[in-house]
Amino acid sequence: MRDKIREIEKSAVEEITLAVDADALEKARVKYLGRKGLVTELFKNMSGVSPADRAEIGKLINALKETVSKALDEKTPVLSGGSDSGAQKTDITLPGIIREIGRLHPISKTIEEICGVFISLGFKVVEGPEIENEHYNFEALNIPLEHPSRDAFDTFYLNDKWLLRSHTSPVQARFMETNKPPFAIIIPGKVYRPDATDASHSFMFHQIEGLVVSDNIRFSDLKGALTLFARQMFGENTRMRFRPSFFPFTEPSAEVDISCILCSGDAAQRAPHKCSLCGGKGWIEILGAGMVNPKVFRNVGYNPEKVTGFAFGMGVERIAILKYGITDIRMFFENDIRFLRQF
Ligand code: PHE
Repeated sequence: MRDKIREIEKSAVEEITLAVDADALEKARVKYLGRKGLVTELFKNMSGVSPADRAEIGKLINALKETVSKALDEKTPVLSGGSDSGAQKTDITLPGIIREIGRLHPISKTIEEICGVFISLGFKVVEGPEIENEHYNFEALNIPLEHPSRDAFDTFYLNDKWLLRSHTSPVQARFMETNKPPFAIIIPGKVYRPDATDASHSFMFHQIEGLVVSDNIRFSDLKGALTLFARQMFGENTRMRFRPSFFPFTEPSAEVDISCILCSGDAAQRAPHKCSLCGGKGWIEILGAGMVNPKVFRNVGYNPEKVTGFAFGMGVERIAILKYGITDIRMFFENDIRFLRQF
């Protein structure tokens, strides 16, 4: 039996190798693998094999069948002259493969839109590293070690020297160290905070920072720039509200709200059914801002007697959520095409 198997393998491979056309190949296929083929016959003869040998012989025949099939498969495209002739002719009546046109991610779109508003005001786009050190993420921005405000910028540490930046403000200091005023810059980028993920939190999100420094920048300049931004982003009738707040790197500081884009802060719409977006308050917070703290200027070697400036920082996801009426921040990062193709 073993000899027979070896013999069949030898002659099958030889015949297949020497086959000159598809016909010869088909003949070989029938001769060995057909219903009455030699390999098929071997399987039928298994009943005559002693039980002790059966497993081994079975394996040998299976291997033979595989060798013959493989030899046939390999030879077929050679004889049919590639995939464009013979049995594998292209069917030009089949529908084509539709290649979908890609589009920008809603976060990239929002970043472009926000930056676009500021670029039209003369701002320049600047970027900085996502892996930062404590100096730029904290100290240069007047957030000393052990200062409670460090808690507000809860941070992923990579080791005792490096961390993932918790805001885009470090780029303020980096830029000022190597550039002289006057300038107006906008800084988009990813930031990281060890927050548990839920509908409104993500351990990674995007911010856009703005910084303007010159010899006579006033709070009214900040208000003017942000008001223009809010109107371009959310509509001409958008109103602004500046609430006093605290950031170590700005003084005075403000949290900035816009009139609710769903109910417009309209009292009649607020009662008796509370607006689902602003909760009836009429305002929604969109960013933090303020006049650059003189200590920050000193830290980068500027003379705070000579220059003034304003800074602001906003979360891109938050702006996109408001603008597009998205209910869950996780949707931005799940790569679900049904969500993404809506933008
Ligand atoms: N860096 C602040 C934050 O992440 C935002 C901010 C930027 C506030 C610039 C004021 C000025 O919350």
